[in-house]
Amino acid sequence: MNDYGSRLWEIFFEVYEGLPRQGPGNRRCTERALRLCVGLPRASMIVDLGCGVGGQTLHLADLTTGTIFAVDNHAPSIERLKATLAARGLSQRVQARVGDMAHLDLPPESYDLVWSEGALYNLGIGKAMRICRGLLRPGGFLAFTNAVWRKENPPPEVKASFDLDYPDMGTIADVVTDIQHGGFELIDHFTLPDEAWWDDFYSPMEQRIIELRRKYNNDAEAITVLDQLAREPEMHRNHSDYYAYEFFVARRPAIT
Ligand SMILES: C[S@@+](CC[C@H](N)C(=O)[O-])C[C@H]1O[C@@H](n2cnc3c(N)ncnc32)[C@H](O)[C@@H]1O
Repeated sequence: MNDYGSRLWEIFFEVYEGLPRQGPGNRRCTERALRLCVGLPRASMIVDLGCGVGGQTLHLADLTTGTIFAVDNHAPSIERLKATLAARGLSQRVQARVGDMAHLDLPPESYDLVWSEGALYNLGIGKAMRICRGLLRPGGFLAFTNAVWRKENPPPEVKASFDLDYPDMGTIADVVTDIQHGGFELIDHFTLPDEAWWDDFYSPMEQRIIELRRKYNNDAEAITVLDQLAREPEMHRNHSDYYAYEFFVARRPAIT
């Protein structure tokens, strides 16, 4: 990686690690998706893949009485989540670990619920479905969010942004096809509302960027990176009609 590339990642993490979440989502959406898992045992075994600093992990801990295994491959996020769990007295019930969700050393076909907000796309949804299905007991639930196109012919700025981060992004129908081909029955899906992008994600991100602009006032390279990062919330402000985050809830059939 060149110097600018490593600086970009350094400042990217300096912006993102301090946010309440690393992607769109909120408690109300987590709660709504959880309600769709009808018949989920109260004391269920849950895996949260790509948990980040644990925004949704903490909601799940609050909304269920089960055990949660939360995993992310970014160690500082897991350190922060562990500290939060300890401060809230949740370390017994919620385990946070650094790990790659593609290579988890977890007991197969054992979990009641696999949760993942904004992370499965890193594996590709087809591969993610195989991994999630392998973790779930028959009848177990899968709930995840994923970015999707809402309209064709996005402006060049939007297309370029997703080409960089998620070139295979499809429509809701494409994800539903992947879910069904992955051996799941779709229960339902819904679109995250705008406040789920702003309250815990883009508004604190813009605030953080303002703080870091002050910190790096005399550092042209850092300011260039911050300008680049600031484009994402601005793009959402201008063009969110072209794309969305969708919550999908599905079930592994009880008899397979
Ligand atoms: C968009 S963020 C979402 C974080 C969190 N779920 C939230 O909604 O706030 C995606 C997360 O997936 C994690 N991630 C990406 N690839 C991963 C992998 N192969 N294994 C584990 N975590 C991964 C990233 O470190 C990041 O924390």
